Amino acid sequence: MQPLSAEQTMTTRWNRKDLLGLRELSAGEINLVLETADAFKQVGTREIKKVPALRGKTLVNFFVEPSTRTRTSFELAALRLSADIINISAEASSLTKGETLKDTARNLEALHADILVIRHSSAGAPQFLAERVSSSVINAGDGAHEHPTQGLLDVYTIRERRGRIEGLNVAIVGDILFSRVARSNIFALTKLGARVTLVGPSTLVPREFEKFGVTVSHDLESVLPQADVVNLLRIQHERQRNEYFPGLGEYIRLFGLTRERAKLLKPDCLIMHPGPINRGVEIDSELADGAQSVILDQVTNGLAVRMAVLYLCGGIAA
Ligand code: CP
Repeated sequence: MQPLSAEQTMTTRWNRKDLLGLRELSAGEINLVLETADAFKQVGTREIKKVPALRGKTLVNFFVEPSTRTRTSFELAALRLSADIINISAEASSLTKGETLKDTARNLEALHADILVIRHSSAGAPQFLAERVSSSVINAGDGAHEHPTQGLLDVYTIRERRGRIEGLNVAIVGDILFSRVARSNIFALTKLGARVTLVGPSTLVPREFEKFGVTVSHDLESVLPQADVVNLLRIQHERQRNEYFPGLGEYIRLFGLTRERAKLLKPDCLIMHPGPINRGVEIDSELADGAQSVILDQVTNGLAVRMAVLYLCGGIAA
């Protein structure tokens, strides 16, 4: 898909109450989120960092899977937009007493929740809810399906550092098969004109991903010298049902970004990771904290991107 021109982007209107994935978004809609995030990042530099955009609205942060970055980031984003916020975890909800997800969501809606941010281990859970409640539903990661705000904050960070996405070589390395982050990145990056290469063992990076317009490689060292961005992903043990490689030592030997292997990178190649990091596995600990790493910028940018998403979807919600 060809990226939209600046003129086309400027005429794009947001017309979605929900953000379920990036697959269904146009390049214009993605650019609109990034430009809205630019404005909110600017707000974050002011002495008073709060704006009244969602005053009077209530956001429920409903996390059925663990999270550090995404949950906190959505909470802070909602507070900066002056929304009221409630955090619910699976353990503290009546899901543990057998209540269905649909009933839980409808009860939250009956309490006038305007925006429901949901993380769930089942792919499709956010869509299931979005079709059944009038509240705005934002996907904060569903199974191995999508993690749209992570994909958006990743392209935002690349665009901020490199000034563009179009024409860049982006390598996504690791457990692609079970990664919702990989899928959201693939959709956003290809729509904005990047060349994406997926790298990892053939069991975790099957050729069928080529249908998304990306290149598949099982040879990290041949990919690193051309990369403008390397995005490392952790092994998603919680979603794997089988052994996909002989052992961690073997994985590190072939696919870990070690200090030796990092010498193959261009000096200005960005090193990214969505977190949580398994230091010494997918990435060497020093590299994670080194000059090429933008891992904490990703976290910082997540706040502005999530403010943009809440602002855009919250403005559409009934
Ligand atoms: N990147 C990410 O989703 O991190 P958390 O699981 O901590 O939210």
